Amino acid sequence: MTTSPIHVERRDGVAVWTIDRPERMNSLSRDTLLELGRLSREAVTDDAVRAIVLTGSGSKAFCAGADLKERQGMTENDVRVQVALYRSELGLLDRSSKPVIGAINGAALGGGLELALICDLRVAAPHATFALPETALGIIPGAGGTQRLPRIVGEARAKEMILLARRIDATEALAWGLVNRIAPEGANLVDDVLAWIAPIVGGAPIAQAAALEAIDRAHDTTLELGLELEKVSYDKTLVSEDRREALAAIAGKRKPVFRGK
Ligand code: COA
Repeated sequence: MTTSPIHVERRDGVAVWTIDRPERMNSLSRDTLLELGRLSREAVTDDAVRAIVLTGSGSKAFCAGADLKERQGMTENDVRVQVALYRSELGLLDRSSKPVIGAINGAALGGGLELALICDLRVAAPHATFALPETALGIIPGAGGTQRLPRIVGEARAKEMILLARRIDATEALAWGLVNRIAPEGANLVDDVLAWIAPIVGGAPIAQAAALEAIDRAHDTTLELGLELEKVSYDKTLVSEDRREALAAIAGKRKPVFRGK
């Protein structure tokens, strides 16, 4: 029996995926990428999954990027194929209509930081560190890092991280907007994230998916086109039962019960 590189748990409507390769610092082997892709395909069609929390096992690494031991035996073409897997398999998470939250439990390096960048929200453990050290290895970030990092932290800071191969800590990552928050010292990171995202789990799924779609699709376009895309996403919420339920709940002075319809 082969063991899965990802430990999967369901906690109150949230799929918690833990990259479970501590002996290789939770790095991304071919099998790990394929499993992330398989789980993503499964999760997007599962109405019971309201959000996905992605983390790594242990406290040393969230994910140390490419599995450098596996890569040693690879030809240039093998590497090309592997990098394409990042796009196809992790791209599913990027386009997920369900919020994806990175619980950064340690070092997020190279492809590990690129995986974190795909998440919609990021929470860091106080000791977490972040780097795209690829240029120091004679390559460049190849799983979206040169594109997503500047969009999140700005061009100057992205160039600083990439050209200097500089590692930053959680405090700096928070100041740069690379993470949304730092979990309290001593807290269980996943428990802390689950408590923080309770409004997502209790919220309206159609509205959340429409908001993600409007933000993600319109991010790099003109304001004019973005406002058009926002209208398309808004219309999806307009016809939902959840919208009527929210109005009824306000009138009835009660909490809404959203059904994703
Ligand atoms: N792929 C495969 N194995 C990895 C790995 C990776 N990306 N990163 C670490 N490991 C392995 C080490 O080879 C070592 O294995 P060994 O015990 O068989 O020698 C084991 O994980 C522990 O690593 P070690 O460096 O001794 O642990 P540490 O606690 O001192 O440091 C890290 C942890 C993550 C900070 C450090 O391993 C590191 O910087 N790794 C390189 C990550 C990297 O550059 N990734 C970017 C790729 S573009």
